Amino acid sequence: MKQIKQRLHRYFPETTVWGYEGFYPGPIIEVQRNKPVVVKWINSLPDKHLLPVDHTVHGCMNTPEVRTVVHLHGGNVPAVSDGHPEAWFTRKYGETGPAFSTSVYYYPNNQRAATLWYHDHAIGITRLNVYAGLAGIYYIRDKHERSLNLPKGKHEIPLIIQDRSFNKDGSLFYPSKPEPPVADVYPSIVPEFFGNTILVNGKVWPYLSVEPRKYRFRILNGSNSRFYRLRFSTGQPFYQIGTDGGLLERPVEVNTITLAPAERADVIVDFSRYAGEKILLLNDAPTPFPDGDPVDPDTTGQIMQFRVGYPYFVHDNSRIPDRLCRIEWLSESSAIKVRDQELIESVDEYGRPILLLNNKRWDDPIDDTTLFQSVEIWRFINLTVDTHPIHLHLVQFQILDRQPFDVEHYKSTGEVVFTGPKVKPDLNERGWKDTVRANPGEVTRIIARFGDYTGIYPWHCHILEHEDHEMMRPYEVNFKL
Ligand code: C2O
Ligand code: CU
Ligand code: CU
Repeated sequence: MKQIKQRLHRYFPETTVWGYEGFYPGPIIEVQRNKPVVVKWINSLPDKHLLPVDHTVHGCMNTPEVRTVVHLHGGNVPAVSDGHPEAWFTRKYGETGPAFSTSVYYYPNNQRAATLWYHDHAIGITRLNVYAGLAGIYYIRDKHERSLNLPKGKHEIPLIIQDRSFNKDGSLFYPSKPEPPVADVYPSIVPEFFGNTILVNGKVWPYLSVEPRKYRFRILNGSNSRFYRLRFSTGQPFYQIGTDGGLLERPVEVNTITLAPAERADVIVDFSRYAGEKILLLNDAPTPFPDGDPVDPDTTGQIMQFRVGYPYFVHDNSRIPDRLCRIEWLSESSAIKVRDQELIESVDEYGRPILLLNNKRWDDPIDDTTLFQSVEIWRFINLTVDTHPIHLHLVQFQILDRQPFDVEHYKSTGEVVFTGPKVKPDLNERGWKDTVRANPGEVTRIIARFGDYTGIYPWHCHILEHEDHEMMRPYEVNFKL
């Protein structure tokens, strides 16, 4: 991890960012299923942070400003290599956090082919480290996926979508206090961050020249707080073939794709009927999601452009298969426990809004110990007014359903009274997931098998401003309860 200068737009001066291996976003790490890799993560960053650090939030009180620890999001990884938020280290490992044990991480890659990503996870400054640039794509590939004849090589491209704001000199802008300020803290964390500029793969509103043929895009929402609801200006569909944890059973044809922070969509897009056209990828997700301010159609309502060429040399023999793979559906009856997890809004000791899980803080004792290799159902009971993307480390899960309930009744009695029927997940959510949108006023149920490792792992909201401000809890996988 290094501080570097990169040109983020043709007409911008160079911007100072943080990158892996000298690049923002980091290089694509591409691995084969069941072939483990070892990565030594080295912090060569300066001692001073690029962005305003709030020393009142957890993990930041008497610790160095620049701390890093890398998490492989979506990875089935032993706890020592998971990137626990307190396993941080500073430049040259000068100082290390209480959970640090090694800088050499072991990734077994014993999971289905999938689009994972790696990003920083240092406690209390994850939002700043990721915003500075510490994120990258990690592909797991396997034989089955290769047999499908999907678009590959230069026709398979990751699209990492992020929002940023800039100062006049081209440097990154990140707020140092909420607007209007709510507390006498400076710098202060903000309840969420929405940038006014969209970047894809580290470029401001880029275009991509494409051939009139099929492409495979691995779309990642790598933003701090912003959700995206994507569609094409042509109205053409996406053929979604995969979710966070790998392939769907069958491709799903959709005209819009909603992605919360950390969610991924693996899609095939067919440009063959659009030779010579310019196509925009558009966004209309409100901020915050789902009932916040509308996007500005001229700025954050646009993501990027595709310039479709002419079909001189195009020989597209890739396919959109009818069937992609088989998914083993976890049955509700196999669950040995149902856990209720409340998403609650409260205020912190400085009077700032704070979002909590079960009204607990990161440092409170562990409440959730799961039995190694056992199946559980978790119910996310969202008492807040926004959608929170809830992410569990270690496991890939399945979404069972979402169901509206009476929030006021729950707040006074603690009893769930449903006000409508269960709604099955969207067709393009019916696969392996590691991050799920828990909507306001709904109970969202997921089912997972906890393993393949024991130890302590975080689960949290992936709105990074929430995660850094206590919307994160540890859970444990153990051989006994
Ligand atoms: Cu992508 Cu715990 O994070
Ligand atoms: Cu993760
Ligand atoms: Cu949240």
